[in-house]
Amino acid sequence: MLLQENISLRRYNSFGIETSARYFSSFSGPEELHAMYDALNRKNIHERLILGGGSNILFTKNFDGCVIKNELKGIDLVNETGDAYFVRAYAGENWHSFVMYCIGKQYYGLENLSLIPGNVGASPIQNIGAYGVEIKDFLHQLEAWNTETQEMEIFTNAACKFGYRESVFKNIYKGKYIICSVTFRLLKEPRFIISYGAIEKELEEMGVTALTAKAVSDAVIHIRESKLPDPAIIGNAGSFFKNPVVSSAVYESLKTKYPQIPGYPANEGNTKLAAGWLIEQCGWKGYRKGDAGCFEKQALVLVNYGHASGPDIYQLSQNIINSVFDRFGIILEREVNIY
Ligand code: EPU
Repeated sequence: MLLQENISLRRYNSFGIETSARYFSSFSGPEELHAMYDALNRKNIHERLILGGGSNILFTKNFDGCVIKNELKGIDLVNETGDAYFVRAYAGENWHSFVMYCIGKQYYGLENLSLIPGNVGASPIQNIGAYGVEIKDFLHQLEAWNTETQEMEIFTNAACKFGYRESVFKNIYKGKYIICSVTFRLLKEPRFIISYGAIEKELEEMGVTALTAKAVSDAVIHIRESKLPDPAIIGNAGSFFKNPVVSSAVYESLKTKYPQIPGYPANEGNTKLAAGWLIEQCGWKGYRKGDAGCFEKQALVLVNYGHASGPDIYQLSQNIINSVFDRFGIILEREVNIY
C-alpha cells in the first residue's frame, strides 16, 4: 500500500478548497482495501475519511488522519428479468459517465439524474435526486465493507432507510461502512418523468417530438448548465443546504405573510419549502465577500471564486442560516458534509 504524507486536497474537493491531509491513500480492489486497513491499524492511524468524487464536502481545516480515495471500477449486467436489468456499478465510477453508459445501453430510469457531480459510491449516502427522481427509486441493493468486522455486507434498498437526501450511511452508520458497489434495477421500457421542473418546456424549446432517454438527459443537462456552476470553473458542492420540510400549518401561516412562497407536498402531509427562495428573499443571491459567494443564478449554491478558505464558506453559510431564521423562523440544514 502506498501511504503518501501531507497531500494537498485541493484537486480532491469540488469546492477547490486548499487544505491538506496528513496521510493519503487509495484502493482499487478488495485485497488492497484489506491491506490498507491492516497497515493503518498497525500505524495507529485511526482517523479516516473515505472520499469519492469530493463533490459534497467542505473542508474547514487540515485533515489529521488518512484520506482514502475509493478507486473501485467496473460496470456489469448481473441479472435480467422480463422488465428489468440489474446493473452493478463499482463505487469509483463517475456518476454522470455511468448514467451515460445506461442511456447508451437502453437501461432506463436514471436519465433525470444526468450531470450530477460525484461518484457512484457516494450516490446512496445522500440519496441523490433531481427533477422528480431519486436513486432510491432504482437502487436494488448495495455492497458495503464493514470497517470494524472487515466483512462485506449486502444492504437492500429498505435497509438503506432512504429519505430526502438521507440514508443510514449519512447518520447512524457514518464512517462505519465503505460502499463498494451499487446494483440498480433499471427498466427495459422507458417511463419518462418530465413533468417536474422545467423539463417539458426545455424539451419543447429543443424541438423534441419523439421522447427518448437521450433527449430527456439532454434537457436536464441544459437546465443544470444554465443554473448551476460547473465545479471545474467555479468551485462549489451543488446545493449547500437541504430544502426544509415543515408542517403544512407552518407553511399556511408563512403563506399568509408571503403569498409567493413556493411549497411542494412532502411525506406525512408536510410541505417542502424552497431554500433557494428563502435565501434569495434575504438578499444573498449574488452576494460575494472575498472569494466566497452565493451563486447569482441559484441561491442554494455557495461558491468559491478562487481562493476562499473552508472557514470563509462556512461562515457565509452560518450568516445565511441566521438571516433566514431571523426573517422566516426556519432553520436551514447543511446538505454538504463539513470536515
Ligand atoms: N428558487 C428561488 N431562488 C433561487 C433558487 C430557487 O426563488 O435562487 C426557487 C425556484 O424559483 C423554484 C424553487 O426555488 O420555485 C425550486 O428551485 P429549483 O427547481 O431550482 O430546485 P431546488 O429546490 O433549489 C433541488 C435540489 C437540486 C436539484 C433541483 C432540481 C435540493 C437541496 N436541491 O434544488 O439538487 O438539482 O432541485 O430537481 O434538494 C443538489 O442536491 O446538489 C442539487 C443541485
